[in-house]
Amino acid sequence: MKKIAVGCDHGGIVLKESVISTLKELGAEVIDLGCYSEESVDYPEYGLKVANAVASGEADAGVVMCGTGIGISIAANKVKGIRAAVVTNTYMAQLTKNHNNANIIALGGRVISPEEAREIVKAWYTAEYEGGRHQRRLDIISRIEDENFK
Ligand code: RB5
Repeated sequence: MKKIAVGCDHGGIVLKESVISTLKELGAEVIDLGCYSEESVDYPEYGLKVANAVASGEADAGVVMCGTGIGISIAANKVKGIRAAVVTNTYMAQLTKNHNNANIIALGGRVISPEEAREIVKAWYTAEYEGGRHQRRLDIISRIEDENFK
């Protein structure tokens, strides 16, 4: 069973229950790192919580949500080893696992519906990383991290 860390701000919380129930249906164990209400919060804090859980190995992967998915993905991508991808449809969800081995997907509560989020999570969770030529490219990203992260 995979452990998936989930985090959102007030703009993404509309998707959270749909994402969590979908992950559980797929057999995942879910770590819910908040937020827990529609009160305004700062998305970088929640992107960081999920990114740290994934980078440390506490979780195998993560799902983050804000209004667009963009801000929280930018924050998550500041953590070494994180490949967080904003995804707005199932094609992107599948390809970002096949090619980028995205260990976090980012969804926008003001961009997609809870039902679209369900389909996107399923497509990402069930897709396989293809390796091969794509690993060479991920190795380049790792090299860039090694050269630029402390
Ligand atoms: C919060 O209003 C909003 O800025 C945030 O959820 C997100 O969309 C940022 O990228």
